[in-house]
Amino acid sequence: MYFPIYRPRRTRQNNFFRDLVRETYLNKNDFVYPLFVCPGSNIKKEIKSMPDVFQYSTDNILRELESLIKSGLKSVILFGIPEYKDPTGSSGAINKGVVQECTREIKKYFSELIVITDVCLCEYTSHGHCGVVKDSKILNDETLELLALQALSHVEAGADMVAPSDMMDGRVGEIRKILDKNGFFNIPIMAYSAKYASSFYGPFRDAAESPPQFGDRKSYQMDMANSREALREVELDIQEGADIVMVKPALSYLDIIYQVKNKFNRPVAAYNVSGEYSMIKAAGKLGWIDEKQVMYETLLSIKRAGADIILTYFAKDILKMI
Ligand code: PBG
Repeated sequence: MYFPIYRPRRTRQNNFFRDLVRETYLNKNDFVYPLFVCPGSNIKKEIKSMPDVFQYSTDNILRELESLIKSGLKSVILFGIPEYKDPTGSSGAINKGVVQECTREIKKYFSELIVITDVCLCEYTSHGHCGVVKDSKILNDETLELLALQALSHVEAGADMVAPSDMMDGRVGEIRKILDKNGFFNIPIMAYSAKYASSFYGPFRDAAESPPQFGDRKSYQMDMANSREALREVELDIQEGADIVMVKPALSYLDIIYQVKNKFNRPVAAYNVSGEYSMIKAAGKLGWIDEKQVMYETLLSIKRAGADIILTYFAKDILKMI
């Protein structure tokens, strides 16, 4: 049907019409807020490359959560800045670890909030890689048990869901196994299934103090040029027991989100990563873009592409806006 019979502007002529035909909405339930937790008390340290994002000690996280929950936040994901780092990332799997302690405290005061924990070695290893290193190689199978133990310790501390972000082969299955063996068959796994070796993670590595001390992450994170490979990764994770699959980053990978959503019958999460956040913040601060509107447009695009869940540092701002 062609102009002038069909005029698309008819249903765009005012707010009421636009509201009537709108296809995509952002909902308060969509968002997961990433938090960086460090040891100590009364710490709130801004991350230089991420305005308005902080490393918090647990007491300050509790304070922060009070208002966030009032504005509708349902879920957080925790990243730990540990007391010490070593080659095997052992501080990541201890009962008194920073994420474990924080999880316990959060669940004590806000029992309904969904606490997700990021499971990975890079925040806890002295070399900053996501796996065990030998002769400058990142070992896969040797890493799996350590990841499983870390995941178990998070869940024992009260985590509602674990999110492995390391990109080792077989880790979802290994984590599922250890959780089930310990009676945690009701704890879901949100797998960072298609996680790309991306330069958009730069500011996060400041925040988590986790840049690799040598080399890069290209031998385990995905090549940005590949999309069919992402579908294989997602398929594998589902076979191994992933309940939610994630694409990361989000904005430069909307095509991947779209394909994963259409091909698989699982909730899809997308991680609107640190670099995507900081670009908008920086341009906003310079007055070059309207920060709030660009934030909204970006998050909406991620949802429209097919994400059911969006992990974003903008959670605080968007919850106030919608
Ligand atoms: C840890 C991890 C990273 C991010 C989430 N989990 C960093 C990395 O792989 O280097 C990035 C998040 C962000 O950039 O916001 N493996």
